[in-house]
Amino acid sequence: MSELFEPTIVVFLCNWYYHAAVDSLASVPPNVLPVRVLCSGLVSPEMILRTFRIGVDGVLVLGCSAGDCHYVSSGYHVATRAPLVRDLVDYVSIHPGRLRLDRVSLEEPLKFAQVMQEFVEAVRALGPIGAVLASSGDQ
Ligand code: FES
Repeated sequence: MSELFEPTIVVFLCNWYYHAAVDSLASVPPNVLPVRVLCSGLVSPEMILRTFRIGVDGVLVLGCSAGDCHYVSSGYHVATRAPLVRDLVDYVSIHPGRLRLDRVSLEEPLKFAQVMQEFVEAVRALGPIGAVLASSGDQ
């Protein structure tokens, strides 16, 4: 019987959502690593690529819902640059399905758990990133 692949996932969480999200992390696998950032709009494409390069199987960036960002335009940037960041990830031969940029509301703790579960399952289906990095010469 083969063991189920448990992907390592880094979740960049906006400071304003962090505690609510971490409270619901009990329902997701232990290899999900939350990283608190002041605002998800500050998570640069370079940070995302560096996270993949250390061998993380999936990167999730979660920010406040539209209009709730404490830095007004930063949360907006998460949504608007998502296609660009996905293209960049794809360009370096990492499947864009390994990255998700999304917004959640403090009033939707269940949505966080749902997004997490969906993302873990999507990355699990893609398999470990190690082979991808090895074939691209990045590891
Ligand atoms: Fe949450 Fe900016 S403060 S996305």
